[in-house]
Amino acid sequence: MADVSAMTQYEARLRSEELRSVISFHNRLYYELDRPEIPDAVYDELMNELRAIEARFPELITPDSPTQRTGAAPLTTFDVVEHRVPLLSLSNCFSEAELQAWHRRAAERVGAEGFQITTEPKIDGLAIALVYEGGRFVQGATRGDGFRGENVTENLRTIGTIPKTLTGRVPERFEVRGEIYMSRSGFEEMNAGIGEQNLERERQGKKPLPLYANPRNAAAGSVRQKDPTVTAGRPLAMFVYQLGWCDGERPASHFETLAWLGAMGFAVNPEMRLHAGLDEVHERIAWWGHQRERLDYDIDGVVLKLDDTRQWDRLGYVGREPRWATAFKFPPQQRTTKLRRIEVNVGRTGVLTPFAVLEPVVVGGATVSMATLHNEGDIRRKDIREGDTVIVQRAGEVIPQVVGPVLSLRTGAEREWSMPTGCPACGTPVSREENEAAYYCPNGGCPAQQIRMIEHFASRGAMDIEGLGERMAYALFEQGLARDVAAIYDLTAAQLMTLSGIKEKGSANLLRGIEASKQRPLPNVLFALGIRHVGFETARLLAEHLGRLEALLDADVEALQQIEGIGPVVAASIADWTQRPENRDIVRRLVKRGVNPVHAGATVGREGPLQGLTVVVTGRLETMSRGEAEDLIRANGGKVGSSVSKATSFLVVGADAGSKLAKAQQLGTRVLDEEAFRQLIESGGGAAATGLRA
Ligand code: IVH
Repeated sequence: MADVSAMTQYEARLRSEELRSVISFHNRLYYELDRPEIPDAVYDELMNELRAIEARFPELITPDSPTQRTGAAPLTTFDVVEHRVPLLSLSNCFSEAELQAWHRRAAERVGAEGFQITTEPKIDGLAIALVYEGGRFVQGATRGDGFRGENVTENLRTIGTIPKTLTGRVPERFEVRGEIYMSRSGFEEMNAGIGEQNLERERQGKKPLPLYANPRNAAAGSVRQKDPTVTAGRPLAMFVYQLGWCDGERPASHFETLAWLGAMGFAVNPEMRLHAGLDEVHERIAWWGHQRERLDYDIDGVVLKLDDTRQWDRLGYVGREPRWATAFKFPPQQRTTKLRRIEVNVGRTGVLTPFAVLEPVVVGGATVSMATLHNEGDIRRKDIREGDTVIVQRAGEVIPQVVGPVLSLRTGAEREWSMPTGCPACGTPVSREENEAAYYCPNGGCPAQQIRMIEHFASRGAMDIEGLGERMAYALFEQGLARDVAAIYDLTAAQLMTLSGIKEKGSANLLRGIEASKQRPLPNVLFALGIRHVGFETARLLAEHLGRLEALLDADVEALQQIEGIGPVVAASIADWTQRPENRDIVRRLVKRGVNPVHAGATVGREGPLQGLTVVVTGRLETMSRGEAEDLIRANGGKVGSSVSKATSFLVVGADAGSKLAKAQQLGTRVLDEEAFRQLIESGGGAAATGLRA
């Protein structure tokens, strides 16, 4: 944001005019067309800057300034509805300090420190006001500009969670407000459906139907369809969060109001809570910070309201924002930044993946300077160019992605990009298989591939060699100490000490890690080899078939195809790998150096402490990957279940466990943490001894 305090009045006028026109442009995209081009956070930045200018130079405020209204005037497609009581917005807090300041201001007006506060997730959908008369749904309208919205009653009638008639004794006339949203899974399914229709349309030479960018736009677009049968086919739902106006008695507490609305038949968010004070609210917000990814709908914050609604009038409003409520906003998961250039990464199987080098930007609480771009086709489809201002997205642990360019900010200096004709690491001409999106470097000896291969070989879930990460793999390769994965087992302390930054202790640790890795089970070793299309699950199937590592050298394509779960493409890829002399040499050298695990044959029905038990694994484990845990179950005679049911003997839980844990608790299924699970296996006690349900 520009430094408003240093602006002259003249500069402020020019800038505020510019901001007004840009914001109006984006308002139209957002409110009228349901096709926003910039993330909310960027929009908020623009609005904040305009507010700051207007606060310093009030004489510059114009009646039509976006700061003076909420939303945009409704489109003319629908009848206009005048809201009897305007639909307002919420102030935002982005930090604990801002939350405390909000609380202090409220406390001053209430005249007491202690008051109860409710929290509810802030659903990222669209606000709707529903009017009921005599217990029947008579009118539903969008928020519009807060004063006048669109009459979308007929479309809303098609939404299952909106009751058409209410149960029990209800006020004669009242209005209830809430948020219409689309679940994430429903959104994915709907877009996949549109994608399929488009394939058909393409064959017929018709224009493709546009995909929706996110569940919120999809919800807004679906509610504002001209034809209610289209809305009916969309996976929409609604949570109510407030009683608008009411001709009749109403509860004096917000929490009770929602319970009351729930009893009438409205859907009230089950995650709503009542808190004794701000400390509890902080705790709940922290909890939401890591739980929100588990919901099947998008939320962008937590709404706080004073529970005592009699205080609401006393507290009143600042502009269009009530003092009795506020929204704690999560760090934005989308931001815009400049895409400096596009570079290409060479993967361990030679696949070339373009990635964006960005001007660093904080997204979702972390600084992002690179983001994946998937493949050339994707870059074309989204029309991403070097020099573009792009939207960057990051959610949880997921790798940051470039969503697309902000077309309205193009200057004309942006450069279109295409895949280089030579591999960026070794210069070999790149190739592309028919019907595949990806380009790859066909040179098996390509240094970039070898380095990535060593890195993968040593990674968790593969050989799990501590101390051998990206940098060490690079150093070993560059210095000629390990040109392939088998050479790792020839390394000596003297050699390692020639590497810069490595001392006696580091070298001893690494050698110890390398030695320990010789004990990894066969599925891990097969996975570690980095054969194209062989993920951990395929490696496990392969291990059962082969029994030992050297047998890989005799595997022929027909026999491989006979293995259940291995198809022709995967079988061909394995056969191709084993035919190459350099790979055969690697396998032989590994075996010679002691990487020679024997797989105990078919594990189904094997004897072991878990014989006859069905075990389900959920959440993130500390000392092993999910695949390894499942392998351990099978290797010990157990069966791996995919979901918790009455047939489940026990559930192994790691961090951030979700619905499976809830289900187990509901069914009374025994739950073990990772440590208890290991102990059970190590003690070899058997099903009877553990008292588990078989
Ligand atoms: S209360 C006067 N509660 O957020 C305040 N709003 O930024 C009335 N929203 O327009 C709103 N979830 O569309 C409230 N649990 C919730 C909400 C919620 C989503 C939306 C709503 C409102 C916007 C305000």
